[in-house]
Amino acid sequence: MLIRRPADIAPSEITPQTVFESRRRFLAHGGALLAGATLGLPAHAANAPDTTPLTPLAASRFSTNETPTPLKQLLEYNNFYEFGSSKGDPSLYAHKLPIRPWAITIDGLVRTPVTLDIDRLLKLAALEERIYRLRCVEAWSMVVPWVGYPLSTLLKHVEPLGSAKYVRFESYYDPEVITPHFFGFLEFPYVEGLRLDEAMHPLTLLGLGLYGETLPRQNGAPVRIVVPWKYGFKSAKSIVRITFTEDQPLTSWPKADHKAYGFFANVNPQLQHPQWDQSRERRIGELFKRDTLPFNGYAEQVSSLYAGMDLQRAF
Ligand code: MTE
Repeated sequence: MLIRRPADIAPSEITPQTVFESRRRFLAHGGALLAGATLGLPAHAANAPDTTPLTPLAASRFSTNETPTPLKQLLEYNNFYEFGSSKGDPSLYAHKLPIRPWAITIDGLVRTPVTLDIDRLLKLAALEERIYRLRCVEAWSMVVPWVGYPLSTLLKHVEPLGSAKYVRFESYYDPEVITPHFFGFLEFPYVEGLRLDEAMHPLTLLGLGLYGETLPRQNGAPVRIVVPWKYGFKSAKSIVRITFTEDQPLTSWPKADHKAYGFFANVNPQLQHPQWDQSRERRIGELFKRDTLPFNGYAEQVSSLYAGMDLQRAF
């Protein structure tokens, strides 16, 4: 694979401030359950995640202090329609996803397009652990100890042109590997997008791991987007291309059903969805529902991005 050399990542971004205790949390919340898997489970255990530890990690001031959802549930309750439409399907079928070699191309309206090898990214990135809520349109939510770094750090390296207004994310797709008949509703490759200011917001994460390890396949290995104030579908998994565009990209869910899924998809308890209640949510593992918070609890940080917009229309 031809890998173009990216602009160098500054050394200041490589050295983390503190060594964080995510390894300890990994063990406390499920690492023990998976110790065999991460440390060399037999090859026949196809649905076992073959992740590797990511250390050291800096703690993030953006983390919620809510208790993370146990790892087992993060691994077994997924939306990854390339590998099936039931929540348990990705844990059974995502082992087909080939995660090495893997590169991401960043192109479009930029001065210096690059193709980056994932292992170089993992080596050079100043990784942080950020405990974020993830809230799905289907009215369930989780708390995830992601590992990653601000997407803006990566995007700045390619020097976006003044004409760039949006960023389009494209997920891995190979019809030989992914069986589209699983879910005829969505077209693949899965495409997501953000407005440039959303993509550059300090909360938007380039996700490279969770619970102190590289990403399990069902959670979007080896690299995904994490946008904590938007519904889960904005957080594209297993991405291979990031393209800067002038026009708003046509993304997978609005393309499939523009009445139910909008481009902006900010978590909004006041919005009606034809099928799912957006005012309440069930945290996976909990019995009772809780109120959904505007912008998923991140309103203070992000509501100014939408000043003057009618969020009933731009949903
Ligand atoms: N990315 C791809 N490529 N394919 C998908 O089906 N599903 C989205 C998002 N990213 C999806 C995707 C949805 S609807 C959700 S809720 C989150 O991934 C789920 O992430 P998780 O399985 O890690 O909880």
